[in-house]
Amino acid sequence: MTRLLNSLMPASNSYMCARIQTAEPHIPRNAGLAELRKAAARCKACDLWKLGTQTVFGEGSEHARVMLVGEQPGDKEDRQGRPFVGPAGAVLDRALAAAGIDRDDVYVTNIVKHFKWEPRGKRRIHKKPNVVEITACRPWLDAEILVVRPEVVILLGATAAQGILGRSFRVSQSRGQWLDSDIAKHVMATGHPSSILRAQDDDTRHEEMARFVDDLRKAAAVFHRLKAAS
Ligand code: URA
Ligand code: SF4
Repeated sequence: MTRLLNSLMPASNSYMCARIQTAEPHIPRNAGLAELRKAAARCKACDLWKLGTQTVFGEGSEHARVMLVGEQPGDKEDRQGRPFVGPAGAVLDRALAAAGIDRDDVYVTNIVKHFKWEPRGKRRIHKKPNVVEITACRPWLDAEILVVRPEVVILLGATAAQGILGRSFRVSQSRGQWLDSDIAKHVMATGHPSSILRAQDDDTRHEEMARFVDDLRKAAAVFHRLKAAS
């Protein structure tokens, strides 16, 4: 267990400054998901709670074999308080269906639990979380992992992948491969559904979607094998 806890510390320890505040003191011990969610709703470990409407905690079964980790909630997620319910979520749902994974079988969460944005006219434009925010929020993800104990973890996009695997990790070089990580037996990084939405033309978008589905299919194969063996 100590090894697991150690392994769940940020991979980025080397650039962590001792003064960075984290959510660690707010995590209830031996808590289930419901209690964690309640505690996370009150989290003020970084400044993002001031920007977002509410904490968007992960969602799914405590016994899910597969966990998907995104970056942070978007505009819709912030309003609804649920992960991946906006346009990126729609892409994710389509890709999961195409790969043969039922969303009910997965636990979906983000590496940062509040929406970071800046105003552009009347719109709220997504802004990438920085290392202080990612480090602050990481204990919530670690707590989710300790409770759910997923066998398969899929990291969606560079923010989640680098948050877990270290800043030198490149999704472009290593996507779709099974990686060595102590957070779960089977860990893979792939693209982010939002980047599919941002593709410059239809052909690129279709290609990106096909690559994303291909990666998820590899996860589906492992998932179905594990399910059949249990
Ligand atoms: N993008 C994410 O990374 N997470 C969400 O929950 C929604 C969009
Ligand atoms: Fe807490 Fe994470 Fe929200 Fe920051 S982003 S206030 S660490 S829940």
